[in-house]
Amino acid sequence: MEIIIGSEEAIGERGADLFSALLTARPDAVLGLATGSSPLRIYDALAARVRAGEVSFAQARAFTLDEYVGLPAGHPCSYRRVIEDDFTSHVDFAPGAVQGPDGTAADLAAACAAYEAAIAAAGGIDLQILGIGTDGHIGFNEPGSSLGSRTRVKTLTAQTRRDNARFFGDDVDAVPRHCLTQGIGTILSARQIVLVATGQAKAEAVAQMAEGPVSALWPATALQHHPRVTVLLDEAAASRLQ
Ligand code: F6R
Repeated sequence: MEIIIGSEEAIGERGADLFSALLTARPDAVLGLATGSSPLRIYDALAARVRAGEVSFAQARAFTLDEYVGLPAGHPCSYRRVIEDDFTSHVDFAPGAVQGPDGTAADLAAACAAYEAAIAAAGGIDLQILGIGTDGHIGFNEPGSSLGSRTRVKTLTAQTRRDNARFFGDDVDAVPRHCLTQGIGTILSARQIVLVATGQAKAEAVAQMAEGPVSALWPATALQHHPRVTVLLDEAAASRLQ
């Protein structure tokens, strides 16, 4: 695990460098995208590079990490919509090149299996971007998740629902209770991973991830088993590292 500490702007550029290098070497790369606040600097830096003609997503494909159950696709908080608003509509992906798990499916287990099959059919994910929850989740693999898990339905913890209430007008009751998420095993199958964390609230989860014992109680610790992980932190998120 390579850990890089810098300003939010510097880590945004550093993360964008990883995507640019991959897309230059392999324009048809398969990307794994996260929603939430953490990757926004990277997404903004990438959008600027696309506008400047320095990088292109025209041949790339992407899979998002997770989705709430029960929010219609057009709901402003559905992750399908959020990733479009925050990133994919600002770069040059081809129509249909970005997929997410279907949280509106009548048969959620079948939707999860179909999602795993789609990732496998694309050849697997070349570069996965991750944030981390204050409880150490990656994707929506909450504490107690199996470290070998694949895409499935999960129940969100009260902590995650409180953390995400800010996107739902600060109304925790409006935050769905269930989600579909790539499993920890799915995430570990990506060939390269970049995890971004900023702010003091992430410091304990970051310290556990990098220095704690590998345990389902802190799901991000599973990343210690991955051979190619870059962790981008600001000073606050890094403040509890030894
Ligand atoms: C989002 C996701 C989550 C977030 C995490 C951190 O697709 O899978 O694991 O990355 O909850 O969220 P932010 O970045 O908003 O602090």
